[in-house]
Amino acid sequence: MNQPALSFETISDPSEGPIRLHNATGYAGMRKAGKLAAEVLDMLTPHVVPDVVTLDLDRMAWEFVRAAGHDSATVFYRGFSHSLCISVNHVVCHGIPSARKLKDGDIVNIDVTVVVDGWHGDTSRMFLVGDVPLKAKKLVDVTYECLMLGIEAARPGATLGDVGHAIQSHAEKQRMSVVRDFCGHGLGLNFHEAPNVVHLGKPGRGVVLRPGMFFTIEPMINLGGPAVKLLDDGWTAVTRDRSLSAQFEHSIGITETGCEIFTGSPLGHTAPPYRA
Ligand code: MF3
Ligand code: CO
Ligand code: CO
Repeated sequence: MNQPALSFETISDPSEGPIRLHNATGYAGMRKAGKLAAEVLDMLTPHVVPDVVTLDLDRMAWEFVRAAGHDSATVFYRGFSHSLCISVNHVVCHGIPSARKLKDGDIVNIDVTVVVDGWHGDTSRMFLVGDVPLKAKKLVDVTYECLMLGIEAARPGATLGDVGHAIQSHAEKQRMSVVRDFCGHGLGLNFHEAPNVVHLGKPGRGVVLRPGMFFTIEPMINLGGPAVKLLDDGWTAVTRDRSLSAQFEHSIGITETGCEIFTGSPLGHTAPPYRA
């Protein structure tokens, strides 16, 4: 693997530990990785329809990434063995591809992480399968808005508390709730590293953002309460009250003036709903 030795320096945060500050090499690496991850979701878009088997979507993603000459970060990650997490309806995150078919009215998160020359691109989107009830569409729209408000708050001098606050206040205004048990994360040459990006917060609190920091923002928003439970497979997280849950994720880098989204859609599948 090609690991550029001088791609970052490190600052130390009292609660988060060392956080990397990447240079131009890191930005170049993350642009490539982020683009491939977004291309996987673009490629899948026309296939996310009633009666598709989720394992088939996973296989398409794997073949696409391998054909591009790159790797999945999730195959063999802590015992996970798929290229995608596919989380349907009340599944919050880390749904495992299976023989299950998607059906009319489902809302589905597809999350993909790829590795390109050692750099990680991590992104997810919500897909509406066939005709989706208004309430579910509203959840998907609000969750996307939460991600984008978090991204707008991410700039040098702002804090992770500002990012979390932007997300939390928007969700709670709509009487929806923010999942506490999972958060965004630093990434780069590692899949998950400091800092933890909690999707709740108070303005001015937490890590001060600086140019060169790379992390994901990936809010999970529920129609009901925030509580989550883990199924016996050790991965699938569902809402305790079985209410619907939605999530979007981008990988970003803090720049001198704001931030750069590494995982934007090359095909323009930017905001939901996505039509082939
Ligand atoms: N892509 C997920 C994230 O956003 C992590 C998936 S880990 C897996 O951090 F093993 F469940 F795939
Ligand atoms: Co992530
Ligand atoms: Co992800």
